[in-house]
Amino acid sequence: MRVGVLTGGGDCPGLNAVLRAVTRNGISIHGHEIVGFRNGWLGPLEGLTTPLTLDSVEEILNRGGTILGSSRTNPYKVDDGVARVKATLAEHGVDALIAIGGEDTLGVAEQLTHDGVPVVGVPKTIDNDLGATDYTFGFDTAVHIATEAIDRLRTTAESHHRALVVEVMGRHAGWIALHSGLAGGANVILVPEQPFSVDKVCDLVRQRFERQYAPIVVVAEGAVPAGGEELLATGERDAFGHVRLGGVGTWLADELAERTGQESRAVVLGHTQRGGPPTAYDRVLATRFGLHAIDAVAAGEFGSMVALRGTDIVRVPLREATAELKTVPPERLAEAEVLFG
Ligand code: F6P
Repeated sequence: MRVGVLTGGGDCPGLNAVLRAVTRNGISIHGHEIVGFRNGWLGPLEGLTTPLTLDSVEEILNRGGTILGSSRTNPYKVDDGVARVKATLAEHGVDALIAIGGEDTLGVAEQLTHDGVPVVGVPKTIDNDLGATDYTFGFDTAVHIATEAIDRLRTTAESHHRALVVEVMGRHAGWIALHSGLAGGANVILVPEQPFSVDKVCDLVRQRFERQYAPIVVVAEGAVPAGGEELLATGERDAFGHVRLGGVGTWLADELAERTGQESRAVVLGHTQRGGPPTAYDRVLATRFGLHAIDAVAAGEFGSMVALRGTDIVRVPLREATAELKTVPPERLAEAEVLFG
């Protein structure tokens, strides 16, 4: 059997660990040939392939990014896209595909399954917001990077008696903000799930200064102030209408300085959270996903996705991955709020 594999969407630490596990299990145990498609769905669209061998996956376990490259190409938004994907698979004798990606990549995978392409999905995102799995690989690494940044920012904030606003990734879900904020002892954590009151943030910042400590505010990129027209009107947007990375962080730091009279700085962690080597936890999770994905292909379980439930890797329908975004529940925020200030 020839099995194709691709990585789509934003990159994520652990992608190479999945590719290594797919390739080693696929070749050594199942006797398959593994064909890598380059640059996400663009690979099958344009016939961009590279063979994955035991040698080509040596020494990639701890490497960040993806050796296959990635893109946000969607064959359903391209003329004759699905027919072109099918033609490429036929031309290269590929019998089944493993798609490693987030909501968009897995959404395409699910549609393709209905259009007769046998696909198995592997969930990835640093945001940890895919509904069907307890955790996605990449999240632990992102939290680790953000926590280390908070630790470092705290000492410089204390030295200069400044408020530090740390903007982390998370457009729709605040998991990175919540976990890094808790781990780094942030004095305020703001997430997209709950519009925040700037007055309340100012009160917490003042309180902290009154106790002679520098406040650290962790804000997810997608968090918005209650009645956030101000930010939404002034915030620079990208082509998709999202407030640009750094938009809310810099806006909030300026607002805090103006309203409290205290010096404030914004630090936007941005793509540093997605780059570099995965943590041990992410390497293990990504490896297990890869091993189980090729087993699912061998079992003919197409239209499924591997997922973590508790400590077990299970197979769930692909549609579950995209059906609902996993956001931070109010009780988790309430827990964190006990420690604010
Ligand atoms: O991978 C998900 C994510 O990191 C989001 O948190 C963020 O909004 C987005 O990707 C930014 O990605 P890019 O700048 O690569 O489009």
